[in-house]
Amino acid sequence: MTIPVMTAIADPRREAELAAGVDGGSELTLVRRCVDIADLLAAAAAGLAQAVVVSEDLRMLDAAAVRRLTDVGVGVVGLVPGGDASAEHRLRQLGVGQIVAAPVDPQLLGEAVSRAVGGLDRDHSLDRILDWSAAPYPPRAAAAPIAAAGPDPLPQLEPGRVIAVWGPAGAPGRTTVAVNLAAELADLGAEVIAVDADSYGGTVAHLLGVLDEAAGLAAACRHANHGMLDAASFAGLALSVRPRLRLLTGITRADRWPELRPSALTTVLARARTQAAFVVVDCGFCLEQDEELAYDTEAPRRNGATLAVLDAAEVTIGVAAGDPVGLARYLRARSELTEARSSGELITVVNRVRRGAIGPGDPQPEIAAALERYAGITTAVMVPDDPAATDAALAEGRLLCEVAPKSAVRHAIRGLAARLIDAPAASRRGILTALRGTR
Ligand SMILES: Nc1ncnc2c1ncn2[C@@H]1O[C@H](COP(=O)(O)OP(=O)(O)O)[C@@H](O)[C@H]1O
Ligand SMILES: [Mg+2]
Repeated sequence: MTIPVMTAIADPRREAELAAGVDGGSELTLVRRCVDIADLLAAAAAGLAQAVVVSEDLRMLDAAAVRRLTDVGVGVVGLVPGGDASAEHRLRQLGVGQIVAAPVDPQLLGEAVSRAVGGLDRDHSLDRILDWSAAPYPPRAAAAPIAAAGPDPLPQLEPGRVIAVWGPAGAPGRTTVAVNLAAELADLGAEVIAVDADSYGGTVAHLLGVLDEAAGLAAACRHANHGMLDAASFAGLALSVRPRLRLLTGITRADRWPELRPSALTTVLARARTQAAFVVVDCGFCLEQDEELAYDTEAPRRNGATLAVLDAAEVTIGVAAGDPVGLARYLRARSELTEARSSGELITVVNRVRRGAIGPGDPQPEIAAALERYAGITTAVMVPDDPAATDAALAEGRLLCEVAPKSAVRHAIRGLAARLIDAPAASRRGILTALRGTR
């Protein structure tokens, strides 16, 4: 059995050399010489080969292209000029795990191709992503041996937890909860990075009173896509808004959504985890995956950003508005959410809980009963409606802990933060407020 291999090599002389090498080794068959990255991606999607050898200087080779190749099951082997440590670094940061140096030894090439094909299922593990994003770029000394250029020191041993704050359409208060939860976590002593990943246009910067058109998250995604997101570049993009609280601002215009590429966003979150105990992400609301698009891994997907965040998150906070319409929307969207999330905890937060919207009685037991009856949700956190407090916060671009420290809404969100901080990583059951008996 031979492995069908394609090449995409910028330099024709190198390409000819490599072709001779492939023919010389017994276990590889050269099925196509691709002229550029578009040709390569099309051939990979068509299933022509199991592996590809790409040269480091191939135009438009970036992390998204590598991800697309591995997504369709093609193992990627990088080709670098012999002794070029910086070229090897660049490829590794793009997610290429197997590297061979020119002039190519056919046996080493065969081994690298087998490993690339065999290792596909590991390619997007968190370890790998951390590996790429933790490696310094550019290497401190180009001539230094590769082994000496280790990852930059991580400020903490335990990687931080990603908390996705999600909710259906209809403004249930995702951003209010996300921003104030991040602030309360920081206030309680944790290092926190807030990330605005709403692909329909973020408002986190507004709520925090930060004027920033630069969209730190989009810039971080660009860096990640080029394999250049290291600790220093990340630090430069995250704005300090309060002690222990930093912010990656979002896209302010909805039409910029393609800048939040899912593969890059995953790398950004992996990097953020190395810098904070909590990474609180305000997500978009939409989850539906268009049938056709779901099969076409090359088509950009607007909801890809949300899906990438939910996939990375240990904890998802699902925000529902505490009225009949809001609860119905939440319960409908929640079934899509369960499909999108492979693992992790879901905490339901019912926001704007108020007497009158549900019926004349005490709203909490009514909502609790409805959640249990229709969705089997037995635990949730209730956040009261408190327009005086949230309006004051909105008007001033400040946090609830600043403008209304004694408000009931602040108190509820702080309670959630306290539970998240206390919860041991292994068991997060303690985060939840038991619904039964809440009054
Ligand atoms: N607990 C609350 N009480 C009163 N108003 C709230 C509460 N939470 C959010 N709001 C208000 O609801 C509106 C939408 O909130 P926002 O957080 O922007 O929603 P989303 O991010 O889901 O679109 C804002 O005007 C906000 O001040
Ligand atoms: Mg919002």
